[in-house]
Amino acid sequence: MIQKKCNLLLCGSLIMVGIATFPLTSANAADTQKDLALERARKTVTLLNDIYVNVVVLITKAYVEDEDSYPAGRAAKLLFKAVKKAGHPETRLIDTSGKPYSSTNVAKDPFEKEAITKLLAGAGRYEKVEINGGNRMLRAATAVPIVSPKCVICHPNYSEIEKGKPVGALVYSVPIDKDN
Ligand code: HEC
Repeated sequence: MIQKKCNLLLCGSLIMVGIATFPLTSANAADTQKDLALERARKTVTLLNDIYVNVVVLITKAYVEDEDSYPAGRAAKLLFKAVKKAGHPETRLIDTSGKPYSSTNVAKDPFEKEAITKLLAGAGRYEKVEINGGNRMLRAATAVPIVSPKCVICHPNYSEIEKGKPVGALVYSVPIDKDN
């Protein structure tokens, strides 16, 4: 008899759980769709990062001879500006070494500050989803290491950087929407 009562109780709870989870299940379906958009935003970060890092390495390798050469960092910033103006995701190049060449290239918002801490602690990439005015935005930062011995020509402080530590970060802001 006790057993029967327990079963009834269990049954009742299961029905309750069933009812309670029904709306959650439909919310999860929406989440899965949103996560596909998040995955696409992540891929966009990877694509942009691969292009930008290679651009900086190629320019430095091919054109930098001395301190008067046109720096790849400056070219990259102009490239980011043009890409953003064309309606594509925003990218920033910031310092993690503590001694930036230009004071404009420092962490500005809480995400950038947090990202520097994580990248200096060893993460190759750090990301966060931010919600702004109801819209989701993927913020991602990737580590910029000393990719060429030529970097030190203009950034003498890089010679004091511990091997393997990043000297900078590329920070991306990619909208997460169904169409990206
Ligand atoms: C010819 C000089 C020169 C060389 C070589 C050079 N840089 Fe720079 N770098 C600059 C200048 C100038 C800026 C500031 C650009 C601006 O804000 O317009 C800069 C900016 C940066 C920044 C942003 C933070 C800051 O210091 O302002 C990073 C990170 C950076 N460079 C990394 C590198 C790396 C890595 C290399 C080697 C691949 C490198 N640089 C080679 C001149 C140089």
